[in-house]
Amino acid sequence: MCAYGPSILGYNHPEVDEAAKTQYGLGNTVSLASPVMIDLATELVDLVDAADWALFGKNGGDSTSLAVMIAREATGREKIIKVRDGYHGVAPWMQPEGSPGTLSSATDQVLTVEWNDLDSFEKTISDHPNEIACFISSPYNHPAFRDNELPQEGYWQKVSSLCKKNGIILIVDDVRAGFRINISGSNVAYGFKPDLICFGKAIANGYPLSALVGSNDLKDTAEKVYFTGTQFFSAAPMAAAKATLLELRKSDAANKMTDFGERLNKALIKTAKDCGFKLVASGIPAMPYYRLDGVDRETHFSWIDHCTKNGVYMVGWHNHFISTAHTHEDLVGIEESAKKAFTALGNSKTEKV
Ligand SMILES: Cc1ncc(COP(=O)(O)O)c(C=O)c1O
Repeated sequence: MCAYGPSILGYNHPEVDEAAKTQYGLGNTVSLASPVMIDLATELVDLVDAADWALFGKNGGDSTSLAVMIAREATGREKIIKVRDGYHGVAPWMQPEGSPGTLSSATDQVLTVEWNDLDSFEKTISDHPNEIACFISSPYNHPAFRDNELPQEGYWQKVSSLCKKNGIILIVDDVRAGFRINISGSNVAYGFKPDLICFGKAIANGYPLSALVGSNDLKDTAEKVYFTGTQFFSAAPMAAAKATLLELRKSDAANKMTDFGERLNKALIKTAKDCGFKLVASGIPAMPYYRLDGVDRETHFSWIDHCTKNGVYMVGWHNHFISTAHTHEDLVGIEESAKKAFTALGNSKTEKV
C-alpha cells in the first residue's frame, strides 16, 4: 500500500532522508521561507508540463481547497463540478451531502457528474450557464469499493474544450496518481492541459508536503487568495521533495512502476486462475485495484484478509500502490501469499458447504 501512496521510492529512502536531515540541521520551521522553497518551486515548474508557478501546503486537501478558491476568485462564480465518488480530501464541500458535522450549505454549490459521461458533463454546463467556476477530477477514476476506470478515448480532450469554451477552470487532482503515470503530470499521458494541478502524497516520499501548480493566467489570482499555515514553510519536507523528484527523474520511475504493476497483475491473475478464481485488475498498473469476480464482497474481503495473514498487506476497498523499491523477490512473495490465500479461501468454502 506504500502508506496509501507517499512511499513512491520505498520507505526510508537514503538520499531523501539525507536531504531532509541536512535541511533539519540548517533549519526547518523558521520565521521566513527557506531558499529550498524557491529551488523546489523552480524544479516543479521545470518538471511539470502545465506549471508556471507553485504553492505549497501540507496535505492533498490543502491543494484541492486552494485550487477551488483560485477558480472561484478567477471566475467570480460559485459552482464546482466533481465526479461522483471522486475523493479530494475532507473539507466539507468534498464530503457527501449530509456527512456528520457538515452544514447542508457546504455542498449547495457542488454539482456531480458521472465519470466518462460527456453527455452529463455537457448538460450540467448548459443547465448552469456562467455559474460554474471549475471542474475538479482525478486524471482517471479511482473510487473506493469499485473497479477503477481509465478515461475513454477523447474524454479529456472534449472536457478540456468544453471548459475552455465556457470559461470553466480545469483542475486535475493528481494527489494520488501524481508521478506514477507521468512525471510531468498525469494529464500529459492523456494528452490535455489543465489550468491547475494538485499534488500531494508521493511528492516528498513520506514527508508532509503538498503542492498546487498552475498556469500563468491564474498567477495573479493565486497571489490574491489567502493561503498559509504554521507549518506550510517547513523546509525539511521541501528538501525531501527536491530529492524525491530528482530520484524519480533519474530512475525513469513511472515506467519502472508501470512495468512492475503489469507483471504483478499478470502473476496474480494467473495465480487466481490456477486456483479456480477470476481476479480483475483495474486502474493504472502502478496503482492496481483488485476485485475477485463472480463472488460476493464478503468472499473478496476474505481473500484480502487471507493475503494479509499470509504476509502481504492488501486492502479490499482501495487501489494499491507500486513503488520503485519493489523487487522481483517482492513480486514472488506477493504471488506466494496470494496463492496461500486462495487455497485458504477454497478450504473455507468447502468447510462452509
Ligand atoms: C485524489 C485525492 N485527492 C485528495 C486527497 C486528499 O489528500 P490528503 O489526505 O493528503 O488531504 C486524496 C487522499 O487520499 C486523494 O486520493
